[in-house]
Amino acid sequence: MSTRKRATETRWLPLILTVWLVACISSPATAQPPQCDPSRVMTAESCAKCHAGEVSTWQQTPHFQTFEQLHRNPRAKEIARNMGQRSIKRGNLCINCHYTTRQEGDRLRVVSGVSCESCHGAAADWIQLHNDYGGPTATRESESERHRQERLADSIDAGMRNPRNLYLVAQSCLQCHTVPNEQLVNQGTHHAGSADFELVAWSQGMVRHNFLRTDGQFNSASSPERLRVMFVVGKIADLEYSTRATALATERANYGLTVANRAASVATGLYEIQQLIQDPFLEDILLAFARAKLEINNAEQLNRIADEIRRLGIKFAEQADGSRLAAIDSMLPDKARYR
Ligand code: HEC
Ligand code: HEC
Ligand code: HEC
Ligand code: HEC
Repeated sequence: MSTRKRATETRWLPLILTVWLVACISSPATAQPPQCDPSRVMTAESCAKCHAGEVSTWQQTPHFQTFEQLHRNPRAKEIARNMGQRSIKRGNLCINCHYTTRQEGDRLRVVSGVSCESCHGAAADWIQLHNDYGGPTATRESESERHRQERLADSIDAGMRNPRNLYLVAQSCLQCHTVPNEQLVNQGTHHAGSADFELVAWSQGMVRHNFLRTDGQFNSASSPERLRVMFVVGKIADLEYSTRATALATERANYGLTVANRAASVATGLYEIQQLIQDPFLEDILLAFARAKLEINNAEQLNRIADEIRRLGIKFAEQADGSRLAAIDSMLPDKARYR
């Protein structure tokens, strides 16, 4: 047994117990997750000419449908009423997670439900870059490896959450699916996050749109190797965002309890994964989380730890080799559980 492994076992396990005991939380200071910047949003129409298959798949999902349906839903009206909100599509309360908005002059217009750019980042600064193989005559085949690496890096620097690094897209999911808004939950009675969210099951069913790999021919399944990486990455991003959600907790009530318990239980799951895969980045993630005090009004510490988890999560996703993660196969969801 390595010293690193022993370090996690002895220092970290007892902490998870204390974590649960102090997992109660207390009042307002609710920050919203940063939506993709409305002044940089292009809308799905600008993707459609090259990504038609992706667009039609997306149109079959609740992400798209929420645009037409949410404001008619009696539960939604009740939540809005509890929050003293007259209109679901106005103000930024529901907009941050259910819609995509675009800045048009001095007006903010709701353009769709949860869209391509909600997951992949507002595109104005990367749409021209991400598919530029090196000028008008260059093709994917003629592109040099160096140019390809630069193109990917440049698109990410310009705000693209490129699925080449799965952590970047996983962050998008968890930022919404942890529902980081204390008032919305405690006062509005919105549910406190998608409790059973798990990235493989939630992205490989109706959400899946892998047309690129077959040049638009069909929507292919991700490889078992990719799914293993995705499974771990989803848990790390869940830990980051449930830690951030706990940072917003200011009262001992449903919201704080739910998000703190979520963080603790995701950490337990990651600990079990670490027993099987012995990954140095995951080791450091668990050690960083072991310092977390899941208490109310502890935003500074918790956000600092979440930043550290993010940094390590991006690295984990960058270097992870799914062919070496077969040990976790029994943990992965069965296809029957794909949403
Ligand atoms: C002019 C055509 C074109 C438009 C418009 C376009 N894309 Fe792409 N996109 C491509 C091509 C080509 C690729 C493959 C690039 C490669 O080979 O690495 C791609 C790749 C991608 C990838 C996958 C990156 C990867 O390496 O896995 C994503 C995500 C993506 N596009 C999203 C979008 C979104 C969102 C929009 C609209 C805001 C959009 N694209 C608009 C042509 C386009
Ligand atoms: C911080 C993100 C976030 C905000 C803000 C938010 N929602 Fe949601 N909401 C979600 C997510 C994520 C789901 C889907 C969860 C699932 O299926 O597990 C959801 C689902 C729902 C549902 C369907 C589930 C149910 O209880 O029937 C309703 C209704 C709803 N939201 C209403 C609202 C209203 C109204 C507002 C604004 C007052 C709002 N939401 C603001 C993230 C959010
Ligand atoms: C901008 C916020 C946002 C982002 C980003 C987001 N979601 Fe969602 N998601 C929602 C909301 C809101 C709903 C519920 C919509 C409704 O029912 O009105 C939802 C619903 C879903 C559902 C349907 C659940 C069901 O069974 O009804 C799935 C699956 C899902 N999301 C998966 C994902 C995955 C996977 C990602 C990341 C790759 C992701 N989501 C990113 C907000 C988001
Ligand atoms: C709910 C979040 C979400 C939404 C909405 C979304 N994507 Fe994706 N996208 C992902 C995830 C996650 C992956 C990686 C999936 C995988 O590897 O199985 C991905 C992968 C891709 C890829 C690469 C597929 C491949 O074959 O490698 C492209 C291209 C893409 N998305 C474009 C789009 C476009 C265009 C839209 C809008 C019509 C869109 N996405 C909407 C989350 C999303």
